[in-house]
Amino acid sequence: MLRILHCSDLHFGKPSRPEQVAALEHAIATETLSAIVISGDLSQRHRVSELERAARFVRLCEDRAPTVVIPGNHDCRWWTAPMGFGSYYGMFERYRTYIRSDLEPRVSIPGATIVGVNSSHGIQRYTLTTRPRDLSVVGAIRGRQWERARSVFATAPDGDFKVLVMHHNLLRGNLSNRWGLASRAFGIVDAAHTGADLVCCGHDHEERVEEVDVARRKLIVSTAGTLTNRSRGGRPGSWNMIELEDGVVRITMNEWHEEGRAFRQARKNAYVMRRAK
Ligand SMILES: [Fe+2]
Ligand SMILES: [Fe+2]
Repeated sequence: MLRILHCSDLHFGKPSRPEQVAALEHAIATETLSAIVISGDLSQRHRVSELERAARFVRLCEDRAPTVVIPGNHDCRWWTAPMGFGSYYGMFERYRTYIRSDLEPRVSIPGATIVGVNSSHGIQRYTLTTRPRDLSVVGAIRGRQWERARSVFATAPDGDFKVLVMHHNLLRGNLSNRWGLASRAFGIVDAAHTGADLVCCGHDHEERVEEVDVARRKLIVSTAGTLTNRSRGGRPGSWNMIELEDGVVRITMNEWHEEGRAFRQARKNAYVMRRAK
């Protein structure tokens, strides 16, 4: 059985809930895991102290299982290179120093190929939006990034479970009513065309697991919640466990229970895998 732990939006710093992080770290240290996915927003204000704490979390994950970690919009110092003026990689200098130099890692494990794409680009011509509060927040995935993911999946071993990781929510938030990507619903089509079976994302701070019909195929989307006091609608903190066995994908949302000071399995969704023709 494949077991992939998916968490997101830990936002080490002021909003972080240390008791929830400790409980997640305990799960990571004790569960049998094939891989770990961290879909961005590791820091709140990309302060060194936040990134140092995030780095300890990432190192724990890496010690336990192959880990795909990507930056979120909070890990991108967008004001250092607005509209393409400045160094693109400079925006991620601290992230690359403390967390991972590769912004788009990929991991191959027996039975699965996991590819990260960086959807956080700061303010660029291609992220401009009419919503002022989305200006430095909205995500984008360029054509060449989609193409890279597609070509990695195309050369993956036959029958591999293909997982695409991005920070911004691929689906419009139920509570926020906001799209994560500037391309909105077109992003769902682009993601399906990569050949991914599953997309792992976050950003919206509302957990959600759904299978969507797109481009004449099915695509499962795991949106992980947050482990902070910034959850959408006061929802409890949460993370997702993805299991694949005998062609069935089960995704369990683990929700924080304040009274028990622990995560408990809340909802489980099951999907039969159908391969794209
Ligand atoms: Fe976030
Ligand atoms: Fe975010």
